[in-house]
Amino acid sequence: VIENVKAREIFDSRGNPTIEADVILSDGTLGRAEVPSGASTGDREAVELRDGGTRLMGKGVLKAVANVNGKIKKALIGQDPCQQAEIDKIMIDLDGTPNKARLGANAILGVSMATARAAAASKHLPLYRYLGGVDLELPQPFFNVINGGVHADSGIAVQEFLITPIERTSFRDGMEKIANIYHTLKKVLAKEGYETAVGDEGGFAPKLSSTEEAIEMLYRAIKEAGYEPGSEIGIAIDPASSEFYSDETHKYSFEGKELDSDELLVYYQKLVAEYPALISIEDGFSEHDWDGFKKQTDVQGKQIQLIGDDIFVTNPKIFKEGIDKGVANSILIKLNQIGTVTETIDTMKMARANGYTTMISHRSGETGDTFIADFAVAMNAGQIKTGSMARSERVEKYNQFLRIEEELGGNVGLAHFPKR
Ligand code: PGA
Ligand code: ZN
Repeated sequence: VIENVKAREIFDSRGNPTIEADVILSDGTLGRAEVPSGASTGDREAVELRDGGTRLMGKGVLKAVANVNGKIKKALIGQDPCQQAEIDKIMIDLDGTPNKARLGANAILGVSMATARAAAASKHLPLYRYLGGVDLELPQPFFNVINGGVHADSGIAVQEFLITPIERTSFRDGMEKIANIYHTLKKVLAKEGYETAVGDEGGFAPKLSSTEEAIEMLYRAIKEAGYEPGSEIGIAIDPASSEFYSDETHKYSFEGKELDSDELLVYYQKLVAEYPALISIEDGFSEHDWDGFKKQTDVQGKQIQLIGDDIFVTNPKIFKEGIDKGVANSILIKLNQIGTVTETIDTMKMARANGYTTMISHRSGETGDTFIADFAVAMNAGQIKTGSMARSERVEKYNQFLRIEEELGGNVGLAHFPKR
């Protein structure tokens, strides 16, 4: 049973405070988890409780730490860590708000993940095995190799340019291909006179002039590394368009133009026609422009993957509305958008039951915790994005798949992206 629950304030990859939680069992087993934090967050995400005031730019999490060490600890002592759904429900009820505003989703998620870790350790199982069934699959990985939007000062509106090894014989084989392209991209950018410093998620952050130019750079790097864009390597973008949408004018400020929803859709259609390797667009439309997102789904939903991130915020209730309205055909999954392991699993089950693909995601503010790698395998998530081939808080998640692949040998499947 749970004997102690304890949290502390640590720092994330952007130097901001975040929560680390420990769940300690009566047999001495320790489960520990670290909580990530986003920058281009959705409005309806569960509340990340921060102290305010002047200490650490107001971003301290000592209130959330106190909630873990006080109320949450008191409620969980003596509970069975293997009853994940029950543990999560106790914390949800204790919080009592619809968005975890009282105790903080950062406090609750830290304990939720640490509980899973403690339970797995007490059963002497790897986390992916404890949370998962028997038929496990390694996901299709998406690597964010060019950073823009609020993740870099590159000046590019689109937040993420990702590449994925569509053709691969193993997770390692796919990662080797991406490593070759990543290094080649660095050379291509340097040759054009661009900076090769990296952004928050480890992708390059050059001051490119347009989305097209970024995709051209990717095409060049893929080809120069010896691969075929499209058949072998796919490209995905996350414009994170809520960041450049105006709620007043209902226009998107995009690369020097003010576009309405219809114009932005025409632009995406042009991109997809021009670049056959482009297989997925995330948050092409704002979380406040459901009509725009719906129209895009009607027009492009059969052709490419359309992922809802800010618009669904991993929330089963909000996602249900999206399913009913026919918005998007895929959902981004971030544990800290909703705040417990159990609710995240519920959202993923809902996606599967309704023909939506799922992509597990890190946050732009990350830690060394590799929970989401194990979680992606356990849930047969199909896809994951966790940054680039640089910055260890990103690469460690991909490295965890190499370990799992080695451990499971022939006993693990390889998820493949649905062909365009
Ligand atoms: P965030 O960005 O972690 O800064 O919210 C990730 C994303 O938009 O997918
Ligand atoms: Zn996103």
